[in-house]
Amino acid sequence: MLQQINQTADFLRSRVNGKMPELAIILGTGLGPVVDYIDEKQYIPYAEIPNFPISTVEGHSGNLIFGTMGGKRVMAMQGRFHYYEGYDMKQVTFPVRVMRALGVKTLFVSNAAGGMNKEFHVGDVMIITDHINLFPENPLRGHNYKELGDRFPAMTEPYSKKFIALADKISEEKGLHLVHGVYVGTTGPTFETPAEYEYFRIIGGDAVGMSTVPEVIVAKHGGMDVFGISVITDLGGKDITDVPSHEEVQQAAIKAQPTTVAIIKEMVARV
Ligand code: HPA
Repeated sequence: MLQQINQTADFLRSRVNGKMPELAIILGTGLGPVVDYIDEKQYIPYAEIPNFPISTVEGHSGNLIFGTMGGKRVMAMQGRFHYYEGYDMKQVTFPVRVMRALGVKTLFVSNAAGGMNKEFHVGDVMIITDHINLFPENPLRGHNYKELGDRFPAMTEPYSKKFIALADKISEEKGLHLVHGVYVGTTGPTFETPAEYEYFRIIGGDAVGMSTVPEVIVAKHGGMDVFGISVITDLGGKDITDVPSHEEVQQAAIKAQPTTVAIIKEMVARV
């Protein structure tokens, strides 16, 4: 694994001529337009990157994008690898290993999620304050390479408190509506049954989705500071009978775009 990480990092280093990113962004559903605010863009399709899996899901195009944003060198993942697509946890989180090898210290993640919190509305943007890992597997299971991090990493501050405070400050300054909450990560690809949404709410979740948790675990293993946002694309619970479709999820994510784009842009410039 170490050899693969280094090989991929070497390849990318040579492709970007040593212009190394300090911050990485995983662009989930609905955050695609953030790409428009990356300057001096260089696209590297996943298919050209040694050891990278290939993205299969509709609406995710599959590129690494290197460039600058708000005066910082950034790299963005346009399309991520989901466990439900059949990738194993090492594949899902491989790009985060490579980010760290390139010197990235800060990771921004985004996703679409179903809301269980009764105060939430479709189109809300949720700052992720914590998560619950309900994937059947932890990406750190197996041999621990101490070059990559500790055997038993602390997860006391999975999402950086200073980033959350900064996001709140920005939302106040700009009059944006943000909510806070705990993200439950589960495999999908089924959306939840009413009883499952209820269960996730009772155990402390505010929103549920099919990504993010593996990547954040690996980022924390590697000592990165993480900021995460979820776009609430549908609501679930005992009394809710609406069926979320993939299209509705995409539509709701588009509705939230002005807020997500504004937050991410400002955050990148100010962290
Ligand atoms: N459940 C799981 N994942 C999701 C949902 C949901 O309701 N909405 C968007 N991603």
